[in-house]
Amino acid sequence: MRVLFLGDVVGNPGRRALRVFLPELVREYRPDFVLANAENAAGGYGLTEKIAEELFGLGLDLLTSGNHVWKREFLPYLARTNRVLRPANYPEGAPGRGAVVLEKEGRRLAVVNLEGRVFMRALLCPFRTGRELARRLRTETPCILVDFHAEATSEKIALSWYLDGEVSALLGTHTHVQTADERILPGGTAYLSDVGMCGLRDGVIGMNREQALEMYLTQVPRKLEVPKKGPVKVEGVFLELEDSSGRALHIERFRREEC
Ligand code: FE2
Repeated sequence: MRVLFLGDVVGNPGRRALRVFLPELVREYRPDFVLANAENAAGGYGLTEKIAEELFGLGLDLLTSGNHVWKREFLPYLARTNRVLRPANYPEGAPGRGAVVLEKEGRRLAVVNLEGRVFMRALLCPFRTGRELARRLRTETPCILVDFHAEATSEKIALSWYLDGEVSALLGTHTHVQTADERILPGGTAYLSDVGMCGLRDGVIGMNREQALEMYLTQVPRKLEVPKKGPVKVEGVFLELEDSSGRALHIERFRREEC
């Protein structure tokens, strides 16, 4: 099974980057499933139903998310859709779902979304939630991909060891900065600390760099906007999984950018 996973789609430039680069990525990697973390696809913060539908129209099968998915107006859609995940380790009563099994042409891929707790909210344990879900989903398919939306690389690496051999891949999101530590762990789990971002190439993690600088220089909190203009990039990862066992056979990170 071949899977493309794209890093955080940030605002209008992120969607433009997908329009520009996704067709050639699909031609090159011929994925069975295409996924992206889209928690910031709407204006650089959150997601809307309209934008989720726009992304499905570009060929994405499923969207994952994280700490920015909880915009009030998005919650009714989140509660009824099975094409947008929110982290599974929120307490009972939070709308939406944290895991799903995708099926296409006889192939089944389970996807789990988790959120970290280091420098983030005090949620349920992502380790225990992840293991419990992986064991439950394994009865449906051995191919299981986890998007671990977290800040700290140490927490991400620790979870990858905890789930090694139980899931096919553990991919980090949230920092918007692609790391270069892709590997396949001894138990067969593919790992990358952060998949990166689809969005503005020359901003500050996708946002307006002048505004970000003003904020850091003055320490006065302010809203950061996503500039509409400027070169864009896509970052992500390609995975090849063994259908029968769920073991990762290959992990490859990629970046494409406008000049
Ligand atoms: Fe996030």
